[in-house]
Amino acid sequence: MSIANKQKNPPAKVEEARTDTRYKLVDRTLKRFHYQQDALIEVLHTAQEAFGFLDDDLMIYIARALKLPQSWVYGVATFYHFFSLEPQGEHTCVVCMGTACYVKRAAEIIATVQDEFGIAPGQTTADGKLSLATARCLGSCGLAPVMVIDNQVLGKETPDTAMSRLREVVAAPAATATASVSSATIEPQEGPTP
Ligand code: FES
Repeated sequence: MSIANKQKNPPAKVEEARTDTRYKLVDRTLKRFHYQQDALIEVLHTAQEAFGFLDDDLMIYIARALKLPQSWVYGVATFYHFFSLEPQGEHTCVVCMGTACYVKRAAEIIATVQDEFGIAPGQTTADGKLSLATARCLGSCGLAPVMVIDNQVLGKETPDTAMSRLREVVAAPAATATASVSSATIEPQEGPTP
């Protein structure tokens, strides 16, 4: 059902939001910003952190709380690359496509991941194991090309090293995968590309 149709026929889930404790996190942000409409992006961020992605029911809930048209909330959520409208996989891989990373051949990393796992940026593998996404700048330009696997920042990657890491992470049990990637992580050192 499209969000436009849901506007005419509100789903029961929206009405039952009070029973889901994750909505309390969203409510807290709404209150912190006094339900101001220009806090929409902040509220969407909180909602995504709480739920993992923004589904139609959640956007309708936020639209009602901020007294905004649902089409406006949907438009903002789809405009910004950091919001996801689909459930994320067990593991996430974000490849930076900012200027510094782009010139260091980040697109080749994406193409390699795409070939290996059969997913484009914004998609998740059919088995739910891996989601692929892109970012505009992750703030570590001196380490370009940069990628993030399961919230761990990795720098100076090549298609080969990226694939090696991803194959290991996807094949391993969740706890083992996290430890493996952590051992090779770096901290962001430089500001974003101007
Ligand atoms: S452009 Fe990739 S980290 Fe800045």
